[in-house]
Amino acid sequence: MASPKTVYVCSGCGASSPRWMGKCPACGSWNSLVETRAESQAPARNRLGGGGAALAPTGGVQILADIQAEDVVRAPTGQPELDRPLGGGMVAGGVVLIGGDPGIGKSTLLLQALDGLQRSGATTLYVTGEESGAQVAMRARRLGLGASQVPVLAEINLEKISAVLQRQSPTVAVIDSIQTVYSDQLTSAPGSVAQVRECAAHLTRWAKASGSAVVLVGHVTKGGQIAGPRVLEHMVDAVLYFEGDTHSRFRLIRAIKNRFGAVNEIGVFAMTERGLKGVSNPSAIFLSQHADPVPGSCVLATLEGTRPMLVEVQALVDGAGAAPRRLSVGLERDRLAMLLAVLHRHGGIATGDQDVFVNAVGGVHISEPAADLAVLLAIASSLRGAALPKGFVAFGEVGLAGELRPAPGGQERLKEAAKLGFAIAIIPSANAPRRGDAVLKALTIHAVDRVDQAMDLLRQIATR
Ligand code: TYD
Ligand code: MG
Repeated sequence: MASPKTVYVCSGCGASSPRWMGKCPACGSWNSLVETRAESQAPARNRLGGGGAALAPTGGVQILADIQAEDVVRAPTGQPELDRPLGGGMVAGGVVLIGGDPGIGKSTLLLQALDGLQRSGATTLYVTGEESGAQVAMRARRLGLGASQVPVLAEINLEKISAVLQRQSPTVAVIDSIQTVYSDQLTSAPGSVAQVRECAAHLTRWAKASGSAVVLVGHVTKGGQIAGPRVLEHMVDAVLYFEGDTHSRFRLIRAIKNRFGAVNEIGVFAMTERGLKGVSNPSAIFLSQHADPVPGSCVLATLEGTRPMLVEVQALVDGAGAAPRRLSVGLERDRLAMLLAVLHRHGGIATGDQDVFVNAVGGVHISEPAADLAVLLAIASSLRGAALPKGFVAFGEVGLAGELRPAPGGQERLKEAAKLGFAIAIIPSANAPRRGDAVLKALTIHAVDRVDQAMDLLRQIATR
């Protein structure tokens, strides 16, 4: 039985019911009722609005120009590669969600960050629900933080955690993880959507009211038993996700939402014996080490946020059975199908009877369309069994009409490639640099308008 303080709210239409039902009586959708604290409905929203003083006198309405814009106060974490996706550091009253697969390094990084903050004079609190205090201490020792002054609370009950937060009022608190926290007020199991949402909403209200910064750690879950961090994305100020496969040393942290900074900014780390170390010049780490160029490989000059990076795109095209497969790792699969159609129609290269696999090296996820040309060149190179020349790089978006569209930040991409000793590039005409840039002198640039021109060039420069 639910306690009388809870109601079941349909996540589709918002209708509420005192009992759980499989089907929403209002909109008819199935399995959409979620247990919610009754009292946290309307008044909670008002509290969340913050800025009470500014809104009070005239029924809340103010002329935009009259509202005092406050500069946000940021506390750098001492980890520049974490501060970058955060937009410069932790923001007072801000709530950050950090998600990622289990074992990718969330707890490690946050312990390092809290220690950095504590050292620089901030007060901190690390709430651990997954590990005991002793386990956290063991990790700290491994990280060389044996003498750390960070206060640790091993607790999973929301009401008890709140009481400590209230008392200590730390500048920055980390909740590791939000999925282990549960509230007495709800009957749902810890980790359920209802619990995770309610606990996150409560901690968010507390952050806004107290001016403390809160970091919620969320595991990305494969099974449906435990609510994933996605259900919280809309209620927090910033969402950061860890990327990279656990088998490689490198970890990327990408901001996919940030009310205090730019999205898509990334931080790059390497996992070492003593925790995560920032990599300030990551460009070359996503290239695999071939002594000589091999067929099916093309280096892409990509732009992650404001940061140019070189990433190797690999393709394998091979004879298929009855149903040819299209598989991509780190690149978008739907886009791959579209690119293969364009390659056929506008490049005269058919892959309909072939399996096509593409992969972005190093576990990095690339979603920008400027990856298109490199993907097509890697595919054509694999199909022909001919390698692109040493020091070759490409970028550019491909349109359905076979045209090459310019990529943003073309100049930065080319400069990064030149800096790392790349010698030859195929890029969209619209990205061709103006003459006289000394940095780009060592780079032979082929600026083309269409996919078929790029394929002609490939035939000239690739070697079997
Ligand atoms: P952890 O931070 O516990 O991951 P998460 O909180 O995201 O689940 O990281 C766990 C992995 O990191 C574990 O496999 C061991 C490795 N690790 C190191 O390689 N070096 C270190 O110094 C530490 C603390 C962990
Ligand atoms: Mg952890």
